[in-house]
Amino acid sequence: MAILICGGAGYIGSHVNKLFAQNGYATVVYDNLSRGNREAVKWGSFIKADLADTDTLDKVFEETNIEAVVHLAAYAYVGESVTEPAKYYINNISNTLNLLEAMRRHNCDKIIFSSTCATYGIPEILPITEDMPQNPINPYGASKLMVERIFKDYARAYGLKFVVFRYFNAAGADPDGEIGENHDPETHLIPLILEAASGKRPDIKVFGTDYPTPDGSCIRDYIHVTDIAKAHLLALEYLNSDGKSEFFNLGNERGASVFEVIEAVAWITGKAFAVTAKARRDGDPPVLVGSPEKAYRVLGWKPRYSAIDDMVSHAWQWYCKQEHRGAFV
Ligand SMILES: NC(=O)c1ccc[n+]([C@@H]2O[C@H](COP(=O)([O-])OP(=O)(O)OC[C@H]3O[C@@H](n4cnc5c(N)ncnc54)[C@H](O)[C@@H]3O)[C@@H](O)[C@H]2O)c1
Repeated sequence: MAILICGGAGYIGSHVNKLFAQNGYATVVYDNLSRGNREAVKWGSFIKADLADTDTLDKVFEETNIEAVVHLAAYAYVGESVTEPAKYYINNISNTLNLLEAMRRHNCDKIIFSSTCATYGIPEILPITEDMPQNPINPYGASKLMVERIFKDYARAYGLKFVVFRYFNAAGADPDGEIGENHDPETHLIPLILEAASGKRPDIKVFGTDYPTPDGSCIRDYIHVTDIAKAHLLALEYLNSDGKSEFFNLGNERGASVFEVIEAVAWITGKAFAVTAKARRDGDPPVLVGSPEKAYRVLGWKPRYSAIDDMVSHAWQWYCKQEHRGAFV
């Protein structure tokens, strides 16, 4: 029996793979490396293939007894989804259907899926709970919401059992320093500030300093990538003990402002760097924080590294290691 991890060469998937392997599960990582890294797959076996390749998908299910699927494979850049929506709808929706159909052909009925807080759009009430309206404002969020809908329909019609996680902002890196975040291009705040701190970019830009927040910058909910991985392990145990299909937020509820994250980076790295105030970006709500209460209550999930300082220091440890081995050119 093995766990199939689609997108397991990516940032979050590689941490999920590590935790499952550490807990005695055999894992098979399935990734086309379009956005992932081969060297991030340090556990289990690896198949370089696309979810569009249904023959290879069938072969995986034929050759290995797959107990459950963790599905993280997707495109995940909001801006790109606005300029190239077709890419997002094809990869995030059609390729998910390919996976679900392969599962159906081979009687595999359990899946844990990476959705996103972007399915909520601009919330009216905070913190966001799972039952609040979902009105995504970009094709990325819409593609994930469509998959959530498909899961509900497959559960009703075909008996699919699922756990869907709506992640807030994944941050940090493996506390042992074995894996971390390696996106190209990088769009996430913490690695961008680390690049400014190490002199790889001239400054860090703060989009909007006049929001109705204590320091004027946006507040986002950061969640350590290892805590996200832990939730997947609990979700598998939950599904294996007949838990019913559910949707869960993965956030910390508290949130940190952009200036607070910048301060944490300056303090942890000990580096001075330029900070440039820019105008607000369209569609950026002032505050986005999610309630993790349901995941606490139902799955028994408790984030271990909820301080932003932990996330930044693990990310910095990983960043320095990459810089040392010449990964940045
Ligand atoms: N990083 C975050 O803060 C965040 C927040 C909310 C949701 N998510 C979701 O979590 C998941 C993982 O995010 P991440 O940051 O690790 O992204 P990532 O880009 O690092 O990982 C995604 C992986 O999927 C692979 N992939 C994409 N399309 C594929 C295909 N057709 N066939 C095979 N492999 C394919 C990529 O090569 C990559 O390794 C994504 O689904 C993303 O939408 C991430």
